[in-house]
Amino acid sequence: MISRIVFTLAATATLATAGPCDIYASGGTPCVAAHSTTRALYNNYSGPLYQVLRGSDNATTDIRPLSVGGVSNAATQDNFCNGSTCLISIIYDQSGRGNHLTQAPPGGAARGPNVNGFDYLAGALGAPVMLNGHKVYGVFISPFTGYRNNNPNGIAKGDEAEGLYAVFDGSHYNTGCCFDYGNAETNSLDTGNGHMEAIYFGTGDGSGRGTGSGSGPWIMADLENGLFSGVDPINNPADPSITSRFVTAVLKGRPNQWAIRGGDATSGSLSTYYNGVRPSNGYNPMSKEGAILLGIGGDNSNNAQGTFYEGVMTSGYPSDATENAVQADISKAGYAATASLMSGPSISVGSRVSFRVTTPSFTNRYIIHSGNAIAIQTVPQSSGIDLKQQASWTVRAGLGNSACLSFESVDTPGSFIRHSQYKLVVNPNDNSKLFREDATFCLQAGVNGQGSSLRSWSYPARYFRHYNGLLYIAGNSGPHEFDNPALFNDDVSFVVSNSFA
Ligand SMILES: *[C@@H]1O[C@H](CO)[C@@H](O)[C@H](O)[C@H]1NC(C)=O
Ligand SMILES: *[C@@H]1O[C@H](CO)[C@@H](O)[C@H](O)[C@H]1NC(C)=O
Ligand SMILES: *[C@@H]1O[C@H](CO)[C@@H](O)[C@H](O)[C@H]1NC(C)=O
Repeated sequence: MISRIVFTLAATATLATAGPCDIYASGGTPCVAAHSTTRALYNNYSGPLYQVLRGSDNATTDIRPLSVGGVSNAATQDNFCNGSTCLISIIYDQSGRGNHLTQAPPGGAARGPNVNGFDYLAGALGAPVMLNGHKVYGVFISPFTGYRNNNPNGIAKGDEAEGLYAVFDGSHYNTGCCFDYGNAETNSLDTGNGHMEAIYFGTGDGSGRGTGSGSGPWIMADLENGLFSGVDPINNPADPSITSRFVTAVLKGRPNQWAIRGGDATSGSLSTYYNGVRPSNGYNPMSKEGAILLGIGGDNSNNAQGTFYEGVMTSGYPSDATENAVQADISKAGYAATASLMSGPSISVGSRVSFRVTTPSFTNRYIIHSGNAIAIQTVPQSSGIDLKQQASWTVRAGLGNSACLSFESVDTPGSFIRHSQYKLVVNPNDNSKLFREDATFCLQAGVNGQGSSLRSWSYPARYFRHYNGLLYIAGNSGPHEFDNPALFNDDVSFVVSNSFA
């Protein structure tokens, strides 16, 4: 009698707080991989969500939920990374199968930029959001950034059934191949049609296989050698351009049937964008290999960008009803875009500023430009108006994200500081998406404790840095000479003051 009462209470408590993987389990299609930097995906999960790697000493720490089954404890990251920079080095699998995601190795299409050919790791500050009123961090994937597990446990192979969902930032995407989450080749090579089954998000043209309606971005399926919105070759008008800030993207497949579904991750229900047979020519039956990737294509095509908050892969083909219950849980989790991308001393849009170096022995140098080129130089009070204007910048709302900033040249209105091939340059605003994003920087408290550091919005592992007199976007211990760890924290910290002119 007593044990029966205990059981009833436990079952009620479970139902009241079921997470996505509890819902999939009760639908008979359990998670075999569950990844999120923002929250536990099981109501009973209290293990690590992700690991961060600190630039100043290469130390790591795990970030866990605030409570069992709860949201991520971002304060652990903020405290650990204070006075340095951090990368997301592991995204842990919560399913108990050990399907963790780590830095992606080189593949058939591309070597990553690191000396060993591995892709970049994501900067840990790139994607702050609020979740149920708490600040947490997503995974901001810049081009050449990727995560992978080529030695998976229990992920669907061949034509076996599986389901996937992921929550992405609907406003962060590009056309490059391929911002994917899901099932891929175990050798990082293109081993042929049907060897992948991953969710894709972006404005790619499907490698000629089609798109959805409008100009995108679309939720599609990367099945290898093609992004599919439906059956090849089509532009599926029922696969809409996504306009919500947070998007739930759903993909599932079983023998000769698959479906794409999607919706706003903060409210409402899922819609079905495709549900039908497999494409011909190598996709029926499928030849899934069961590796897991995030942010890249199956052959490590690594030109894409996007933001990942949470996602899972299941064993078995989830019912629409199960997925609808998961969507209800995601909406209830309460994603909101109100977390600040900036910290430290604030500067006003419309004001004019100059940037002074804080590295010892160089503290009389300022960021100046001469034509397109940017350098550091002394600007004596006695210098002429030309030099003073070259060292002065008008603060604008970020051209690529208005929650951050852009810096317009005082002597060349319409031209802005941007990064190009990792160098900082001054170029006229051509109003392209790439220019606007590359000209957007987020201020944070100076990494060395002085002034401010200016983080690239589009490559948040990289900061304004002076190196041998020139300006770069640099990452601590990255592959380039200007990523040199020596003096990194000083070289990326600048005092922002009223402008010379
Ligand atoms: C957590 O919940 C899942 C299903 O929701 C279950 O399979 C698993 O055994 C539970 N783990 C523990 C440690 O209770
Ligand atoms: C951290 O590791 C990188 C790469 O292995 C190395 O280049 C760098 O010097 C290390 N930094 C410190 C502070 O040990
Ligand atoms: C970082 O450390 C500084 C100095 O110790 C402190 O003033 C600041 O509040 C800390 N910031 C965070 C986010 O913990």
